[in-house]
Amino acid sequence: MKYKSQKVAYWFFGLCMLLFTLQIVYGFIMGFARIGWDGLHDIIPFNTARAVHTNLLVVWLLTGFMGAAYYIIPEEAQRELINVKLAYVQLISLAVVGVVAIVGYHFNHWEGRKFLEIPRELDYLVVVNVLLFLGLILGTLYKAKRRTTTALVLTMGLVFAALLYLPGMIWFDSQVTDSFFRWWVVHLWVEGVWELIMGGILSYLLIKLTGVDREVIEKWLYVIVGLTFLSGLLGTGHHYYYIGVNKIWLVVGGIFSALEPLAFLAMALFAVYMYRKGEKSHPNKIALFWTVGASIVSFIGAGLLGFAHTLPQTNIYTHGTLVTAMHGHYAFWGAYAMIVLAIISYALPNLTGRKRYDKTTGHMAFWFSNIGILGMTVAFGVAGVAQVYMERKMKMEFMKVQDEISIHFVVLLLCATLFTTGIVMYIVEFIKYGKASDEGLQPATVNE
Ligand code: HEM
Ligand code: HEM
Ligand SMILES: [Fe+2]
Repeated sequence: MKYKSQKVAYWFFGLCMLLFTLQIVYGFIMGFARIGWDGLHDIIPFNTARAVHTNLLVVWLLTGFMGAAYYIIPEEAQRELINVKLAYVQLISLAVVGVVAIVGYHFNHWEGRKFLEIPRELDYLVVVNVLLFLGLILGTLYKAKRRTTTALVLTMGLVFAALLYLPGMIWFDSQVTDSFFRWWVVHLWVEGVWELIMGGILSYLLIKLTGVDREVIEKWLYVIVGLTFLSGLLGTGHHYYYIGVNKIWLVVGGIFSALEPLAFLAMALFAVYMYRKGEKSHPNKIALFWTVGASIVSFIGAGLLGFAHTLPQTNIYTHGTLVTAMHGHYAFWGAYAMIVLAIISYALPNLTGRKRYDKTTGHMAFWFSNIGILGMTVAFGVAGVAQVYMERKMKMEFMKVQDEISIHFVVLLLCATLFTTGIVMYIVEFIKYGKASDEGLQPATVNE
């Protein structure tokens, strides 16, 4: 850690771990409900659990991105954050909004847009919070000694992500218009601007971990940004196939969304290539695993599994089924969860003056969680295909089908247990290495 103000990142990462843990708890509540063990139904019905599970996911990832920015930006800008106290204020207010929202879900029926269910009053708090965050990041960049491509792409992603939250706040009477604009947030986030955030973090980590020249690494970043915008913007059309808008979207959405995997492929090739080119001398191997892992798993989860249902001919069958959940889990995991876990793995020992992550537990955390979620993805996939076949081909009744496929959720729960074991190990490491120590000097960073 070069700059004192980077320390604030530590607390964002801590909040991130806490919210992530809660997200998993709600995943299990749903998994058990799916096999008939729905004892909590009166307090936490499935729809509540689902909203909390997905909203917590979004919030812990954003918390991780913010932590990443507070860690990365000072180093890239070669100066302290402009105001550290305000960064802590922002952290606390973020935690407060998070808690109020989670508690609120259990007492209210906020039947808003999926993923964006919080009520308007909280929306305004989110806006203020995010403005404060962006103010601190942009202010720091404004006064920076240098402005790197990595920092600019990361910041651009964060600014656009904030702007795109706004269309989700407009009220529409028509269900069609409402749905139309909801995707500006949900789709353009994960298949647009969040990719820039991911690209920025990836680039920073590869510069630090592989020792390859910044110039080489940042050239790739332009390619990734280009491919993302080329495909992702009009790729929004893959959510417009049968919702009641113009039929032109069948063609536009089909073609452009089919190109989206290219951006993820570029990221995977980028990371693997830089890894092989690099000196591989950095002591923090675990961070390297998460970094390269994120690029590969996101290509599979977002790119390949996204492609699997993106053409109108397939989507007409798979829309809104567990096939979507299959893709949703592996894509979010690979692209965004793993990159957040990567930056935490990299930053944590530096923040606390440790030498490196403990080898065995850290590696086991990586493999258990990855094998676990791969198994979950397969279980969702098998359940999803069976669901599509029975419900949409054989025209069986919806609830009857849900009964038939409940066995796959037993498999899901087993794999989720393995996954959770891995995450528990990760968090144990986080706590263990989160304590300050002078056991080692800062790990040698190969690059500036
Ligand atoms: C990291 C990037 C991605 C993430 C995190 C992600 C996540 C998700 C999630 C959570 C949903 C469900 C949304 C909802 O119903 O509200 C979804 C839907 C969808 N995704 Fe992705 N996705 C990503 C990238 C992609 C890519 C690259 C493609 C295409 C190649 C794709 C194709 C689709 C399609 C077609 C749907 C609609 C499914 C349906 O009709 O039910 N996704 N995605
Ligand atoms: C122990 C772990 C987990 C379990 C048991 C679990 C279980 C579930 C279940 C049962 C659903 C509802 C599917 C349905 O509609 O029936 C769901 C939704 C979802 N979960 Fe998880 N989950 C877990 C972890 C995760 C993680 C780690 C992520 C992200 C990295 C994630 C992302 C999502 C998303 C995006 C959805 C919404 C999918 C859609 O819109 O189709 N979950 N989860
Ligand atoms: Fe999409």
